[in-house]
Amino acid sequence: MNILGIESSCDETAASVVSDGCLMHSSVVASQINLHESTGGIVPEVAARAHLQAIVPVIEQAMLDAKCDWSDIDAIGATNGPGLPGALLIGFNAARGLAYSRNIPLIPVDHIEGHIRACWLNESPPPLPALALVVSGGHTELIRIEENNTFVRLGSTRDDAAGEAFDKVARLLGLPYPGGPPLSALAETAQERQLKLPRAWLRGTNDFSFSGLKTAVLNLLKENDHPAPAEIAWAFQESVCDVLAKKTRNLAEKENVKSVLVAGGVAANRRLREVLAEHISIELRIPPPNLCTDNGAMIAAAAYAHKNNAVNAKSPLDIEPTAMRKKRLRSTETAR
Ligand code: KG4
Ligand code: ZN
Repeated sequence: MNILGIESSCDETAASVVSDGCLMHSSVVASQINLHESTGGIVPEVAARAHLQAIVPVIEQAMLDAKCDWSDIDAIGATNGPGLPGALLIGFNAARGLAYSRNIPLIPVDHIEGHIRACWLNESPPPLPALALVVSGGHTELIRIEENNTFVRLGSTRDDAAGEAFDKVARLLGLPYPGGPPLSALAETAQERQLKLPRAWLRGTNDFSFSGLKTAVLNLLKENDHPAPAEIAWAFQESVCDVLAKKTRNLAEKENVKSVLVAGGVAANRRLREVLAEHISIELRIPPPNLCTDNGAMIAAAAYAHKNNAVNAKSPLDIEPTAMRKKRLRSTETAR
């Protein structure tokens, strides 16, 4: 089954053709990074306009790269939430129009599940039950995936998401947006590696908190003789990676899962991948960096998992900027 996956929830317009939820034939991503650099973050209307300009060329390129004809496409999967409303509307309505005109099923996809499904773009599916750590610009969550593919959220951030913390601290250090990659590159140049920044363990919970760490960096930078920016970047990255890896390991042991999956933009971080590998002794699956950040292939993979929930593009459908996850993910309280 060939699925065209379309993603436009934030600042990347992406499309991809994937067979049977695992074999990727193409993946085209138009990034808006340069556009948002001058504002140091995303202006939603600017993002929506850029999606509008990119959506058709990106889909056409994904079809060309996959050497596909429209008659080869069996269904279209598209992100319908969570995300920026204006951005979501562009990709989802493009998908809807295409599905309508081709008379093929349309499969709405939750963006967070999409990130996790990037771990299925592989020769074999991950062993279940699994524990997924999702670390993106908007989310930091620990999710248990049952053998019947039910997703149960066990923990999440109480304030900033991990990627958001990288972006905010990068900004404090005068680095461009998005801050994860430049902050990580700066950290690798640190000469002294003694500085220790706080870690919020929130013991007895599976939750995270990164806002105190950000404030610690801010306070440190106010001191006249503060450590070099590279040392601060290194200490910040160590603190985030330490907490993410240890809390994930502890929960994986408690939940007795067979694999740990890591997904979302921050999963592209080289140091995080290294620290996780040191701590996790069961199967650890982290997609290649280009499939950690937003892409269409993960959406096609998630759509395949929900192929039985396909809808007719003519039926009344809408984007769900925030509500989708609440419905699909049972919370800790109701789950156990
Ligand atoms: O998953 P993603 O592409 O978009 C969202 O769904 O949010 O994640 C983007 C986030 C940004 O905060 C970015 O700074 C972070 O992922 N990121 C990284 C790295 N690459 C991207 N953070 C740390 N290290 C990286 N190498
Ligand atoms: Zn994302």
